[in-house]
Amino acid sequence: MGSSQGWIATAALAFGYLIASINAQTNTLTDLGTLLSGEKNLTTFYGLIQKYPQILLQLPSFNGVTILAPNNDAFNKIPYTELNTAFQNNDQATITNVLEYHILQGSRTAAELTPGEPAFIPTLLANPAWTNVTGGQNVENVKQAGDVVVFDLKFNGGVVQVIDSLLIPPSNLTDTTNSFNLTAFEGALYATKKIENVTASKDITIFAPQNSAFQNLGPAISNMTIEQLSSVLDYHIIASGVSFSSNLKNGTKLTTRQGGNITVLHSGNNVYINSAQLLTSDILLSNGVLHVIGNVLNPEGPGAQPNPQIESQAPVFASATPVENLPFTSAIPCTTSCPVTDASSGTGTATSGATKPTSAGAKSSGVHSSSSKALGAAMARETGFGTAGLMVALGGAVMMI
Ligand SMILES: *[C@@H]1O[C@H](CO)[C@@H](O)[C@H](O)[C@H]1NC(C)=O
Ligand SMILES: *[C@@H]1O[C@H](CO)[C@@H](O)[C@H](O)[C@H]1NC(C)=O
Ligand SMILES: *[C@@H]1O[C@H](CO)[C@@H](O)[C@H](O)[C@H]1NC(C)=O
Ligand SMILES: *[C@@H]1O[C@H](CO)[C@@H](O)[C@H](O)[C@H]1NC(C)=O
Ligand SMILES: *[C@@H]1O[C@H](CO)[C@@H](O)[C@H](O)[C@H]1NC(C)=O
Ligand SMILES: *[C@@H]1O[C@H](CO)[C@@H](O)[C@H](O)[C@H]1NC(C)=O
Ligand SMILES: *[C@@H]1O[C@H](CO)[C@@H](O)[C@H](O)[C@H]1NC(C)=O
Ligand SMILES: *[C@@H]1O[C@H](CO)[C@@H](O)[C@H](O)[C@H]1NC(C)=O
Repeated sequence: MGSSQGWIATAALAFGYLIASINAQTNTLTDLGTLLSGEKNLTTFYGLIQKYPQILLQLPSFNGVTILAPNNDAFNKIPYTELNTAFQNNDQATITNVLEYHILQGSRTAAELTPGEPAFIPTLLANPAWTNVTGGQNVENVKQAGDVVVFDLKFNGGVVQVIDSLLIPPSNLTDTTNSFNLTAFEGALYATKKIENVTASKDITIFAPQNSAFQNLGPAISNMTIEQLSSVLDYHIIASGVSFSSNLKNGTKLTTRQGGNITVLHSGNNVYINSAQLLTSDILLSNGVLHVIGNVLNPEGPGAQPNPQIESQAPVFASATPVENLPFTSAIPCTTSCPVTDASSGTGTATSGATKPTSAGAKSSGVHSSSSKALGAAMARETGFGTAGLMVALGGAVMMI
């Protein structure tokens, strides 16, 4: 922290700007600096906000913000996350982008962030090297098990809520397919040379079949020509717009890049896309959202209906023959972290001619969600101050609100 004078001056400016921009009716509320400095469990976060005050310069352009402030315990966990290198190296670009992902547009009460209907709230993270969704990358409202009480700590520019893990901005497509074992789908995108396009497409919605869906088809898919496989893959990608699960209402038809529609069906507690069951929804991508489905969709049979009475739906391709080998994975270029590929897989014509991708983003570091942590990170639990701890946590000044 060598040039401390510099940032202190800028921080003062940032806080001053915040205070100057508040309207009269919120004048009685404390400013963010005062609020944070009074929170014993937010000293690390407060330190970072002071160190990188440029984050705060954005605040007044929104009509209030919600700051998901990681507590000191959250920062103590960094060594065990993929953010470790960035924080160790004081990587300003990464740290500021990560912090921006903790600031939601608009002032939200704790109740709006707790479980219930999934909601996706845009953040201040809009750096094109990190995100390619219109209006800023989203945070899903916090899903949590058990009864965690969350309190709103109000300040003159919005509200602060305390969380116990850092939120990690969503990763690109290939990091996500690797994390979620969607490697046959990923390999098929490489094999058809679609990977760069899909990774660089803004506001994308992808329905990615799980690996076993490809194994269940065998030669019925691995023997396809590039054109046939391209058409099948395009039928899993929505032509325009980010469709979160909240958009997947019963009967919804979504037009795909292939040109045909897919249809959403709700039956009991299950949701189906044509006849394929929706298994995992709302995995955020740097450029949109991905949902995992149980079967490969067939553009030749858009009217396929599920049988909700049975657990796994039958394949919808003629002469599907289950195989052990995982098709297409050999088309995935092996770089630093190679997915486990099956050397004997991908015997079909479609696997020829895979290209090495160029990175779509210009991330300055390897920050990404990995393995099952991706979901966990996106759903970091908010910690409340237990009722007993509230007095201590809030201190006198804020209690006046
Ligand atoms: C991706 O391909 C589609 C056609 O399928 C095209 O309209 C779009 O512009 C491409 N996007 C990028 C980022 O290359
Ligand atoms: C964002 O999306 C647009 C439109 O699809 C594309 O042209 C651009 O290259 C993408 N940016 C990045 C960094 O991937
Ligand atoms: C990934 O998918 C393959 C193919 O279905 C399966 O054999 C393997 O167990 C899966 N790995 C994990 C970690 O789920
Ligand atoms: C798949 O292609 C191979 C080689 O072209 C061929 O020998 C085999 O019969 C095909 N299998 C099916 C099920 O079409
Ligand atoms: C797809 O759905 C849209 C909206 O429901 C509808 O207007 C369109 O005709 C459908 N297209 C096809 C090919 O069925
Ligand atoms: C969804 O719509 C279908 C037909 O449009 C209907 O049969 C079914 O009962 C609906 N599902 C739910 C859960 O309402
Ligand atoms: C996704 O990001 C990783 C870095 O986290 C990078 O190595 C990879 O090339 C990117 N994938 C694509 C298709 O650009
Ligand atoms: C605050 O920090 C103390 C000490 O690390 C810890 O015991 C306590 O649980 C924390 N409280 C909250 C609400 O995070």
